[in-house]
Amino acid sequence: MAANCLPPTATLSGAATTTTHRRSPPSPATTVSPSSVSFHFLSSSASLKPLRLSHQRRLKVRVSGGDLGAVVVTKCVASDPVQIKSAREDIKELLRTTFSHPILVRLGWHDAGTYNKNIEEWPQRGGANGSLRFDVEQKHAANAGLVNAMKLLQPIKDKYAGVTYADLFQLASATAIEEAGGPKIPMKYGRVDVTGPEQCPEEGRLPDAGPPSPADHLRDVFYRMGLTDKDIVALSGAHTLGRSRPERSGWGKPETKYTKDGPGAPGGQSWTVKWLRFDNSYFKDIKEKRDEDLLVLPTDAALFEDPSFKVYAEKYAVDEKAFFDDYAEAHAKLSNLGAKFDPPEGFTINDEPPPAAAATPEKFVAAKYSSGKD
Ligand code: HEM
Repeated sequence: MAANCLPPTATLSGAATTTTHRRSPPSPATTVSPSSVSFHFLSSSASLKPLRLSHQRRLKVRVSGGDLGAVVVTKCVASDPVQIKSAREDIKELLRTTFSHPILVRLGWHDAGTYNKNIEEWPQRGGANGSLRFDVEQKHAANAGLVNAMKLLQPIKDKYAGVTYADLFQLASATAIEEAGGPKIPMKYGRVDVTGPEQCPEEGRLPDAGPPSPADHLRDVFYRMGLTDKDIVALSGAHTLGRSRPERSGWGKPETKYTKDGPGAPGGQSWTVKWLRFDNSYFKDIKEKRDEDLLVLPTDAALFEDPSFKVYAEKYAVDEKAFFDDYAEAHAKLSNLGAKFDPPEGFTINDEPPPAAAATPEKFVAAKYSSGKD
């Protein structure tokens, strides 16, 4: 049973199961030798609505068969898979209308990136637990500007009470990468939210862009999260998206030829020309350092200076597929850091048809606005 659940209840009923709820395959945790199994979520059923904190959902598993009739077992889940899927569609629409891919990626990363593998207890260990929704954490210097990402996502959160903030932030980030033309991220969901601002991590767990020794600093911070040199380089490739704004982080130019017309709020300095398109141009551009209008932070430059980082950075500059594969793996890892899943194994929503059977994917349209000179 998940740690944040009340004890499960079991009821017997003489009636056979006649549920009209959605069907899904039984999970090992809920199978009681059934002849048929159905799941439904009490949060979407008025007559069965449980008294629970908002971050807890009760999953009711009804098993019928044998002389006993139906057996009903309940367990808790953090988010409702059906609502997660609907929220993903709303996020896609949000991305289409606001071009907010970069800031949503940064939001997910900054919620997860506070993780400290040397602390066992949740939520003290930090990580993807939704703590970044609280003012106290948004006011950390590293999070300057992320309040805008929160404002974009709050209406979606309000619409889907059955989705935790922790899941919503990671869902938004992974969806933004995918919609920008990046790889499919092997995500899972079911992250439990922290409940109050006192559970936020202390300031100072995220990396600085200009520390005295950038490569050492990157290792200090990312090794603390349990990540590797390969993860550091691959994840840094997320800077293929977005801009830095001097009024937020202190880094970057107020505007460049690539950012002065937006889309989205104009201004800032991007790392790449097409900063709404996820590809490997970040590695090509920071290697060349030829365009004054493109940004290279000290921590970006370190990827081609440090001998171990350089192996990956050079590879990604010439091999986009290698970058995509490693990025997808590292992003999924990042999104799980420190998270408490309920059910403990999490759940996936990847039920799209396999690529061979899928229709031709829709062309990514935001990209055509991102360079101004296609
Ligand atoms: C390696 C250490 C990192 C440092 C020092 C760093 C630093 C920064 C800085 C200074 C900005 C500009 C923020 C602003 O002015 O609005 C920024 C933006 C951004 N960062 Fe990082 N970052 C790092 C790693 C990452 C990682 C791991 C990801 C995601 C996986 C990421 C994703 C982004 C994105 C997408 C933006 C653009 C945000 C926007 O356009 O609004 N960064 N980062």
